[in-house]
Amino acid sequence: MKKKILWQFFTKQEIAWNLIDLILSKFKLNSISNILEPSSWTKSFVNELNKRWFKNIKEYEIDWNLTKNPKNFLETIIKEKFNLIIWNPPYSKIHSKETFVIYKWKRMKIEQAFILKSLNLLSNDWWFWFILPINFFTNNKNIKNLILSKFNTIYIYQDDTPWFNENINSAFIFCHNSNNPWINLIYKEIFTHKINKDEFIEKALPVYYFNKNKYKDISNIKLWNFIKKVSKSVNINYKNKNLSSKELVNRKININDWDNYSIAIARVWMWIVWKCGLINSKDIINEVFYVYELKKEYSSHKNAILIQEYIRKNRQYFLDISIWTWSPSIGNKDILDLPINIEIKWS
Ligand SMILES: C[S@@+](CC[C@H](N)C(=O)[O-])C[C@H]1O[C@@H](n2cnc3c(N)ncnc32)[C@H](O)[C@@H]1O
Repeated sequence: MKKKILWQFFTKQEIAWNLIDLILSKFKLNSISNILEPSSWTKSFVNELNKRWFKNIKEYEIDWNLTKNPKNFLETIIKEKFNLIIWNPPYSKIHSKETFVIYKWKRMKIEQAFILKSLNLLSNDWWFWFILPINFFTNNKNIKNLILSKFNTIYIYQDDTPWFNENINSAFIFCHNSNNPWINLIYKEIFTHKINKDEFIEKALPVYYFNKNKYKDISNIKLWNFIKKVSKSVNINYKNKNLSSKELVNRKININDWDNYSIAIARVWMWIVWKCGLINSKDIINEVFYVYELKKEYSSHKNAILIQEYIRKNRQYFLDISIWTWSPSIGNKDILDLPINIEIKWS
């Protein structure tokens, strides 16, 4: 129950150690003198900072089972300023009412309230480090804008190791102001990539850029070269569909029945299987379909089948660029960026 309400997942000790190591490999942290951990529980970060001679760490923890001195970080008036705030806070779960709070008269997700309060507690020479589930990095535009207004140097780190006992896909972000401003993504020890502010607001996930990078040299011709319109109008009816994604892949359309078909890509709910086939305006669908009308010059039966087959063979691309949050998501732009490595002639 606590797990659900207070979102109690502790950071494994060795993970806290590695994350602090990562920062120390990039920055000298001599000036840090006053540190705050607003939801400390197992003290993973506090202990690791102590081992490295960082002292003066103030902690909060709300749960009286976990501390002798329980305090609600959001409700305590704190006058002190800190030059490092580090946390793995409680965070909201989609569809869970309990993880919303009222902070400064506004209803918001608990991690947003933690961020707003933390930003007000930072002194001038400040550092802000935190872990959050990856859906924070793909949403929360307002909060990310606020972070950009306070910091000019941001690193976001991800790897494949489990950071908690539960399987929660998370990333670690550390923010600072420096003479070398940038937003840098790091995936394991193998990949770093700079992004701009717009990309940070949109999708700030190292693994996504790492996966996209795998396809960068395959071909300059992308699926969008062949597409006239995204989301050609299709009929959606949840009760009376005539076409499921399973039927889509088994469907054979003869050249004689060729009638203005579009490329449809379907995501089969929760299985994250990408299916591709051809549909037209007579079809009625009910799943998560992405529908693309081909340009006139590529819209022959032969070309449509070639493109369909190519997409089917490149399923890994769609898996690689899916963002794995609570439910996998993908955008039109990413689908249309599929490099096409076969020759498709005008028809
Ligand atoms: C995800 S756990 C992380 C614990 C620790 N920071 C770590 O990295 O292992 C979040 C912690 O926040 C505590 N918490 C939840 N709401 C809080 C609040 N309003 N004030 C202080 N602590 C809170 C929970 O009890 C839980 O221990």
